[in-house]
Amino acid sequence: MIALLLYFGHTSAQVKTFTGANWISSPDSAACPVFKKRFLITKSVRTAILFITAHGLYEAAVNQKKVGEAYFTPGWTDYAKRLQYQSYYLKQLKRGDNNILVTLSAGWYSGVFGEDMKQDNYGKGTALLAQLIITYQDGTQQVISSGADWLRSTGNIRYSDFYNGEVQDERVRPENWKKVTVENFNKTSLLPTISEPVTGQETFRPKRIFKDSKNETIIDFGQNLAGLVKLRIKGKPGDTVTIAHAEMLDEKGNFYTGNLRDAKATDVYVLNGKPETVHPHFTYHGFRYAKVTGFIPSYNNCVAIAVHTNLKHTGTFSCSNPMLNQLQHNIEWSLNSNFVDIPTDCPQRSERFGWTGDAQVFCATAPFNRYTLNFYKKYLADIKADQGTNGAAPVVIPDFEQQKDTIKQGVAGWGDAATIIPWNLYQVYGDKTILKEQYNSMKGWVDYITAESKNNLWTTNGYGDWYAPGPKTALPFIDQCFWAYSTQLLLNTAKILGKDNDAKTYEKLLGRIKTAFQKTYKNKDTTQTACILELQFDMLAENKRQYAADKLAVLIKINNNHLATGFLGTPYLLPVLTRFGYTKLCYTLLLQQTCPSWLYPITKGATTIWERWDGIKPDGTIQQTSFNHYAYGAVGQWLYEDMLGIRPALPGYKTINIQPHPDSRLKWAKGSYACAYGKIVSEWKIIGSKVSYHIIIPKNTMANIELAGQKLKRVNAGDYHFITTNNVCL
Ligand code: BGC
Repeated sequence: MIALLLYFGHTSAQVKTFTGANWISSPDSAACPVFKKRFLITKSVRTAILFITAHGLYEAAVNQKKVGEAYFTPGWTDYAKRLQYQSYYLKQLKRGDNNILVTLSAGWYSGVFGEDMKQDNYGKGTALLAQLIITYQDGTQQVISSGADWLRSTGNIRYSDFYNGEVQDERVRPENWKKVTVENFNKTSLLPTISEPVTGQETFRPKRIFKDSKNETIIDFGQNLAGLVKLRIKGKPGDTVTIAHAEMLDEKGNFYTGNLRDAKATDVYVLNGKPETVHPHFTYHGFRYAKVTGFIPSYNNCVAIAVHTNLKHTGTFSCSNPMLNQLQHNIEWSLNSNFVDIPTDCPQRSERFGWTGDAQVFCATAPFNRYTLNFYKKYLADIKADQGTNGAAPVVIPDFEQQKDTIKQGVAGWGDAATIIPWNLYQVYGDKTILKEQYNSMKGWVDYITAESKNNLWTTNGYGDWYAPGPKTALPFIDQCFWAYSTQLLLNTAKILGKDNDAKTYEKLLGRIKTAFQKTYKNKDTTQTACILELQFDMLAENKRQYAADKLAVLIKINNNHLATGFLGTPYLLPVLTRFGYTKLCYTLLLQQTCPSWLYPITKGATTIWERWDGIKPDGTIQQTSFNHYAYGAVGQWLYEDMLGIRPALPGYKTINIQPHPDSRLKWAKGSYACAYGKIVSEWKIIGSKVSYHIIIPKNTMANIELAGQKLKRVNAGDYHFITTNNVCL
């Protein structure tokens, strides 16, 4: 690696390194201006660190070598209040003439983005702020700062935005260097980068190259993903190559873009006659298929590269049922595709916002698969920054549209990301600083709802159990349940942080919320989601709970053993059933193949999780929906926590609970989770009427192992084998 991206550990003293630097911009309207600075080195270099950020996106090269590997830097935050910068150790400086070249693009800052293809969401145009600090072997320093002595031009990237794609003219190289404009933009919102960078990761070669019935040339990369196509091309100067992207083929097997809304999702290259490898730099697409013109693709001259936040893999899951393994694969690929600096809803259409509802429903599943602490910390800091003074948490974060009306601020199941994500992170990573940092944000959200409520009832507009098939669950019912849950999490947090007065206040509030719920919504639990939420959030008196769980089971059975849940009910469906003794029914739902079910999309060839259960209807009709939305992938939590039975007994897994739930409709299941102490393994096999277990508990931890029909075992770190009988659900 030529330059190493430094993620952490920059103190405010280092922020001061930008003091000598000025924001610079290009006065003409070039979409992607290029900035240049030449400098001389006469002594031998000990270290060289580049600090850099932009209004828009930047890509820097020093001595013609790209700096770092990241895409879409400086990342997306609430720019007015929080603008990240990155720091890179440079290894490519040399004695003599050196140069730094930086290309900018409008990106989230001012590029086309948002409903109605708006522009300038955070400001106009683009600007650069950079500082290179060179320390020589003799201890002296030289500082190269962006300012009036830099030059600007335009390069081969003629246009780029996230929805429409990128246009490159390979005949153009920056020349006719002109003066830059020095800008007076503030430097007060700068902060060091928080999360791991977005990088190019998995590579896919074409699986199939074919002509569709419209005689269009299509490449099938075999996997739906967020990323880009890289081509090796050679043609006549001025020849044009276009690459359009799509997730699906239509009913006739033709390239289908009907679900992309306004996104053109097309990259264009004008060739210069020389052989070249090209790819977009400031955009990405959600696609499995590429339609190419002006280029003859082969299995060797093009690849798709998945581009997403570079997070360490933490878990593994597999079992004897290949369709469930495909489900796990699809969950991971919707995770990959929607962890692009922020947690997005989808990667393909003209949307890709940080919907809080989607983020919270998936935040218990994601950490089993990837190390998400820094990724979510960054997002939570933006929730905090974007919460109104009234505490309302917007439905999309960063709140680039500055939603003013309350439906877009205070939505049950969406705004609750403010309490649910920090609480889940604390459970997984055991890090109290998350709770400390987010406490005011959590409190602000609950206090907002309380202020909005009347007679201890919260009734607000919202999205409800989004895309639930069948009868709708009433919004006020949902509102009250999430108000209670957020209050419960705030109360737990107040206790942990020793905020005793707050704990008392919210304990009383929670009592009032539940009493009002029990009075007002008695017998109103007529849908699966209503039963699920009231059970998951302990809304009912204890002696009423089993009855509600039995009712949920009946609702599922009369629905022909199918779920009828949307975004809010689905994540808790299987956990609630297991908690109340219906694990056998969980397996029935999980293994269901007809619509709606988790496996139905797999019968239709899905390689990612769909936004709707029936993205392709049973009759083959394709809906104008996203085929890469992770929300229903929240079932992944149950696969790890209940099928394998791995969960923290104490936050951070210092003590672990192992309680697997085998079922004889599978022959075996196995998996692991790498917690901070090491790898936890849980594996079971059905052997005749017996079940054999293999469990590994990492060093410096303890575990409570609970196997059905067996006494609880408290064990230290070690490698354990057990064989039991009577342990199968069936
Ligand atoms: C998004 C969802 C989001 C929803 C709000 C949709 O357009 O794709 O994932 O949560 O709007 O209901």
